[in-house]
Amino acid sequence: MAYEMIEVRTEAGKVGVITLNRPKQLNALNNQLMDELGAALKSFDADDAIGCMVITGSEKAFAAGADIAAMAKYGFADVYGGDYITRNWETIRSIRKPVIAAVSGFALGGGCELAMMCDFIIAADNAKFGQPEIKLGIIPGAGGTQRLPRALGKAKAMDMVLTGRMMDAAEAERSGLVSRVVALDKLMEEVLGAALQICEYSRLAVYAAKESVNRSYEGGLADGVMFERRMFHALFATEDQKEGMDAFVNKRKAQFRNR
Ligand code: CAA
Repeated sequence: MAYEMIEVRTEAGKVGVITLNRPKQLNALNNQLMDELGAALKSFDADDAIGCMVITGSEKAFAAGADIAAMAKYGFADVYGGDYITRNWETIRSIRKPVIAAVSGFALGGGCELAMMCDFIIAADNAKFGQPEIKLGIIPGAGGTQRLPRALGKAKAMDMVLTGRMMDAAEAERSGLVSRVVALDKLMEEVLGAALQICEYSRLAVYAAKESVNRSYEGGLADGVMFERRMFHALFATEDQKEGMDAFVNKRKAQFRNR
């Protein structure tokens, strides 16, 4: 598939990097861009050489939200009946390999929601997060009202969603929305370092870890703990578990087979 609204590349033959590329619209997210993003994620997920993916934007904007110009003409029947705005937004949830959001600049509305759909966010010090939909007479429509409270707690989530204010990178890190904040010129180095580190581990353990954390994030505690327990047990059926523990006991570096 030829891409017009994203750029796709591979780093070190192992990390799939997807750059949102509508700079004039601050990477506003429309159906074509989201279709392309979904196709690129699926293609990397199906590629055995790839162990981790990164979604990033420009220095000024990760993404400034769903495309307001495209949305402006829609009525209820279009968005509910045709699901014109967010019909293809959940593709990312079907991706098994880890996806890291590398955020610099604005991550607003659907941009913040897209970053939150990734497995974790590493932010540049110029990043700004927000759910300003209230200013447009709507509410977040791609999971913002659900994922923000899980990430930030109810008080901050209500503050963000009801006032539409932006949160800077320092507040986002303090609040648990992002895992790390680095200088803008170090963002990709830091993100690729994390991605390459993940690529070194057993892919089976990486899948199990991601599925288990998501079980906690998306469901109830008892169910999540039981799911984690079963995945933990299942990994004892892999060669990588034997290798990882033997390597530790014998003070050598593990050589995982399933990478
Ligand atoms: N959709 C479409 N176009 C957008 C856009 C968006 N979400 N955000 C920015 N743009 C466009 C602007 O219209 C402008 O285009 P022109 O040059 O043709 O006028 C260009 O990008 C540059 O933007 P600004 O001139 O506004 O840049 P700025 O630096 O002054 O401000 C900003 C930056 C604060 C991000 C501002 O652009 C802004 O507030 N954007 C809208 C943010 C927003 O409301 N996002 C939520 C969208 S709704 C949503 O996402 C629903 C959902 O949950 C799925």
